[in-house]
Amino acid sequence: MPASTSADPCLIVIFGASGDLTKRKLAPALYHLWKHNQAPERFGVLGISRSKFTDAQYREMLYDFSPKSYASREDFDKFADCLHYLPADATKSEDWPKILERFKQLSDQHGTGKNYLFYLSMAPQFFGPIVENLGQTELITDGKRMVSVNRDDPSWQRVVVEKPFGHDPDSAVELNQQLANVFWESQVYRIDHYLAKELVQNMLVLRFANSIFEPIWNNHYIDHVQITASETVAVEGRGSYYDGPAGGAMRDMVQSHLLQVLSLAAMEPPVSMDGEDIRTEKVKVFKALRVPTAADVPDIAVRGQYGDGAAGGQDIAAYRSADGVDPQSQADTYAAMTCYVDTWRWGGTPFYLRSGKALAEKKTEVVVYFKATPHCLFKEEAANQKPNQIVINVQPDEGIRVRFAGKVPGTGMRLGDVVMDFDYVKQWDVEPPDGYATLLHDCMRGDQTLFKHRDEIEASWLAVQPVLDYWADHPDPNLPNYAAGSWGPQAADDMMAKAHRYWRND
Ligand code: BG6
Repeated sequence: MPASTSADPCLIVIFGASGDLTKRKLAPALYHLWKHNQAPERFGVLGISRSKFTDAQYREMLYDFSPKSYASREDFDKFADCLHYLPADATKSEDWPKILERFKQLSDQHGTGKNYLFYLSMAPQFFGPIVENLGQTELITDGKRMVSVNRDDPSWQRVVVEKPFGHDPDSAVELNQQLANVFWESQVYRIDHYLAKELVQNMLVLRFANSIFEPIWNNHYIDHVQITASETVAVEGRGSYYDGPAGGAMRDMVQSHLLQVLSLAAMEPPVSMDGEDIRTEKVKVFKALRVPTAADVPDIAVRGQYGDGAAGGQDIAAYRSADGVDPQSQADTYAAMTCYVDTWRWGGTPFYLRSGKALAEKKTEVVVYFKATPHCLFKEEAANQKPNQIVINVQPDEGIRVRFAGKVPGTGMRLGDVVMDFDYVKQWDVEPPDGYATLLHDCMRGDQTLFKHRDEIEASWLAVQPVLDYWADHPDPNLPNYAAGSWGPQAADDMMAKAHRYWRND
């Protein structure tokens, strides 16, 4: 479906509405759209979960959670006219008559017609029953059901799915099947908030709106690419999730966010900037990702777990002492992996991915390392001739830096490392917007560019599963193996050193 430029009227239904995500991200993002006149003229929001709230109590709870997300109480109150709440268990068919009644009443009240945006913001085991119950209603008129209803009725129903999207290839396929029983792929919006980060999207502009980078964006000129998402925070109250089947850095960050970033760095130019065309190219990257064998794993992947230490100005107690965590846990709070994209463009060029909690610094970056010049003319200065780099700072300090060698002033030919800097905030004089506002707006416009196709998810699970299986079969007696506040386990540095490379930690 072609995306319209403005958001269509709709009723947004959030399942799991009393959870953290709604308070932290969704309500502030919807407010942001409302405040900046980007929300549709006619829209309503209905939160559904089992907790007992009235509309008034629900609004109060959202405001109290983060007053600073709203310009003033008065402003929030105006926005909150569109916020509603219904205590119900949407996994149970007996609760659906009252849910449907409320849908009808709110779509009449806000004039949203039959357009619905269903947001699944809960643990994945509840997706199936809710989607099945939705399928039993007469609500889904778009897509699959179009054959049996009025084809001239342009109303739409879309479903937004939060991560974790499964915990292994089979569970991801199962979730996709459950969704496909009721919705077409064009109605399914699988969220990855990293795709909404300005500097991640900027990679497409850097590569495809400029002619100076793309000719050298291949294995002839690029030595390797590093993708890092390091956090200083520990598991912070999410111990039982993180220690469960969907947790650990490999699942929580590498399989999802980092492989998405890799796909944008590695994809071929799409035939247009249409969402469908971009997704087609991303899917090709995922299909070309080399799936390691068990024998490869010790050489290409490293797991870590933090012990006591201090990071981000806080003392941090070892992961195993966090609430909800098994004191003998083998969970990876750090994961690093060498990936290969087996294509003509990337044959032999490694992509090194790493992510971890309780590390020395909070940063997300993509660093492209170029090969050395074919011949070194500055022999006495060879030690000062560092590889050229393009550093895409996704966060914080959003920007793009090109590092190359320059002449140090004075007599003789001394080399120094110099940087050409594009600083996002200085350049545009705005802070990057929050990703969730962008993503919700795209859902309301029907633009799937920043959402994951089912094939991307299934292929990315296949690429990491051998590592997860190997780790499950070979418990590591040395965990915890890095101090909170460090750059992770020594083994990750060793993995790079064996390839005569090193992580960029500055
Ligand atoms: C989430 C992970 O998807 O991303 C969290 O579940 C992680 O564990 C978070 O902290 C990081 O997001 P950001 O935007 O702060 O880099």
